[in-house]
Amino acid sequence: MSISDKVSGAAQAAIAKLVPLAPDSWIPGGVPDPLIGHQHGLIGTPVSRLDGPLKVQGSARFAAEVPLENMLYAALVFGTIPSGHIATLDTKAAEAAPGVVLVMTHRNAPTLNNPALFGSSPTAAGASDLPIMQDDRLHWNGQPIAILLAETQEQADHAKSLIVATYMPEPSTTSWAAAKAAGVQPGVFMGQKLLTEIGDAEAMLRAAPHKIDHVYRTPRHNHNAIEPHATTMVWNGDELILHDTTQMVTAEAATIADIFGIKAEQVRVISPYVGGGFGGKGLSEHQILAAAAARLMGRPVRVTLSREGVYRVVGGRTLTEQRVAIGARADGHFSALIHTGTVAMSAHNNLPEPFIMAARSGYGADSFRLSVETAAMNMVANIFMRAPGEAVGSFALESAVDELAVELGMDPIELRIRNEPDQDPTSGLPFSSRCVVKAWRSGAERFGWGRRSAAPGQRREGEWFIGMGCAAAAYPYNRMPGAAARITLTSDGAALVEVAAHEMGMGTATTTAIVAADRLGLSLDQIEVRYGDSSIPGAILGGGSQQTAAIGGAVIAAHRALVAELLKLAGNDSPLAGLSVDEVGSENGGLAKLQDPSRRDSYRAILERARRDSVTAAAKASLPLEAMHWSMHSYGAMFCEVRVNGVTGETRVSRFLGSFDCGRIINAKTAASQFRGGIVMGLGMALMEETQFDERTGRIMNPSLAEYHMPVHLDVPEIEVMWTDQPDPHTPMGARGVGEIGITGVGAAVANAVFNATGKRIRDLPITLDKVFFQDSGAARTDQNLQHRAMDARVAGDGDPSIRVQA
Ligand code: MOS
Repeated sequence: MSISDKVSGAAQAAIAKLVPLAPDSWIPGGVPDPLIGHQHGLIGTPVSRLDGPLKVQGSARFAAEVPLENMLYAALVFGTIPSGHIATLDTKAAEAAPGVVLVMTHRNAPTLNNPALFGSSPTAAGASDLPIMQDDRLHWNGQPIAILLAETQEQADHAKSLIVATYMPEPSTTSWAAAKAAGVQPGVFMGQKLLTEIGDAEAMLRAAPHKIDHVYRTPRHNHNAIEPHATTMVWNGDELILHDTTQMVTAEAATIADIFGIKAEQVRVISPYVGGGFGGKGLSEHQILAAAAARLMGRPVRVTLSREGVYRVVGGRTLTEQRVAIGARADGHFSALIHTGTVAMSAHNNLPEPFIMAARSGYGADSFRLSVETAAMNMVANIFMRAPGEAVGSFALESAVDELAVELGMDPIELRIRNEPDQDPTSGLPFSSRCVVKAWRSGAERFGWGRRSAAPGQRREGEWFIGMGCAAAAYPYNRMPGAAARITLTSDGAALVEVAAHEMGMGTATTTAIVAADRLGLSLDQIEVRYGDSSIPGAILGGGSQQTAAIGGAVIAAHRALVAELLKLAGNDSPLAGLSVDEVGSENGGLAKLQDPSRRDSYRAILERARRDSVTAAAKASLPLEAMHWSMHSYGAMFCEVRVNGVTGETRVSRFLGSFDCGRIINAKTAASQFRGGIVMGLGMALMEETQFDERTGRIMNPSLAEYHMPVHLDVPEIEVMWTDQPDPHTPMGARGVGEIGITGVGAAVANAVFNATGKRIRDLPITLDKVFFQDSGAARTDQNLQHRAMDARVAGDGDPSIRVQA
């Protein structure tokens, strides 16, 4: 990740070398944020979402609900081959259909620049850098080949069915085996090589007295936010306003401006409400095509993707094939940790699934070999999906740790604790704060781990086999560069806080208000938060579980600028006269001397004496150097109880507990929802989610919620969450991220519980009933086969004729 848009590559490399060696006090967070010790404020209390009433009343207006005069409705036509050219494209019938005002194809689309790839600059938002409808070429099955505008959505949707295309196919790669056979490339994620080698891990593995070595697989996953993608937009001359649902207002505005060859200030993206993001709400072809068509017609346009449309043009998580091998001494200490493998990736894309991230910091092994390689396929560009890397990487790693525990005859929690590192095992950096053991111990106690039988297949109620499993969760702390905040204090003692951040339902607007209220010494009802608008200075990504830290860093900077401004306005008559910014803090509606709070001046009094209605200060956050100086992550211990039906093979999760260590929790209520939501998504990954990709044609075959299965209420048990609440001394407010960690570890916790219940080790997600019954998951170990038979014999013992189990 780049440190700053102004710092060159060479300078960045130098900074990367120097930052770890610098004294703590030079680093942001080196001196703990005073709010960490502030015990009587709002931080840590449960606060209901400030936008909750608007949402339950239906008065929060989402992107597809913004009314504009004289608006046209768009429909997209998706190509049906994975690679080749359009031979013929008959649009006559569509053009003549009722209500249709435009059919735009590569023949009449305006010239557009290619999007810049996400991560290639701080304001790049492109999922791919392919040309957008500039020629007759297709690169994936589902690529848009036409966009129609009509007076109503129904007219646009009807006319789209009248378009007839024929193709000249070219060779393509749509099978995973063919993609791997064609050769793999080293994986690079956000400019970082996905390769870590310490010692000779293969030799250490061979020499280890205890070892496991297996391949784990996870399928493609698609985005299914409750709100499908939508944009309502209007051009005013050369200026474009988009009401969009997005996680990156600033980067999206800048990238769209580049595509149209206009200035960033000429594009404004407004996104106050997002009905779920998860990494999927960025810039795709639909916004660009609709903007081009709107410009051609000179009328406002609304483009809404159907559920199928989301599958065709918005990418998702790619499939992975991961080898995990661990060598251990008799006492359980890891001598070798190998986590390598291959992921599918579209060309023109830079987001391979970085599944080795958790293995870099999780365990103190003597040697490491971690790598991700990519195999190119013709498919829609990969994009982020909640905990990219860790979500599926932790399935493989944490399943493998469980397998090793079985091999060693050791409790899997004890095995993990024995390998708890003192410092980051691969970077060598000190941890900023890591209370993993506490999370394990308190979680185990709460969950009743002591009641688990170590041998699988022991607990049974009727036809249900019951088992418990656990897994570690982890996700890195991020605070991306570019954040800024603007604070306006008014003479009535209220404050407006503006950040270019995003509310996707996780409670950002509320946590921002909490953080600003405590920082400014105001009450919650004195704070108004504006966000989700690219016209606000700074760029904050609603992703990477980093918004709270990024906003916190920006509010710290803006607050400091505000204090300086207020001290100037306070003048010589103020009790604060002569004090510097460093000597003064906010409390109780004003400023006070830190060492002598009796010297104070209220905001109202300062503004009144200065005859000002308001004062505004804006500032950029410090560079996020802390994440290069310390090893910083959110952590968790996941506990799962499953019931596996011996007759049908279905797996039901009956209990789940997440025990987290994510620094100080800002809002107990919304953080608990984030944890639970992540776990629910993890249950989907564990048991049902799977994009069906037709290996002959590259077409996604299940682009609907009818066929792409996700958990519903009946699939989700009561989920308990708890946390250490141990502040991280080196982050704003002591907080680390809570958005993505919930999905990590869940796949393995479920798979490990299924093993404990049945003796069947499923190394291939999702854990569907066919795999529980029929898959020989490569179980070479005799006692494991015995366990299979144990389960089968127990079931067969019922004499139930419907049982078809494999011995
Ligand atoms: Mo997240 S995948 O960073 O929205």
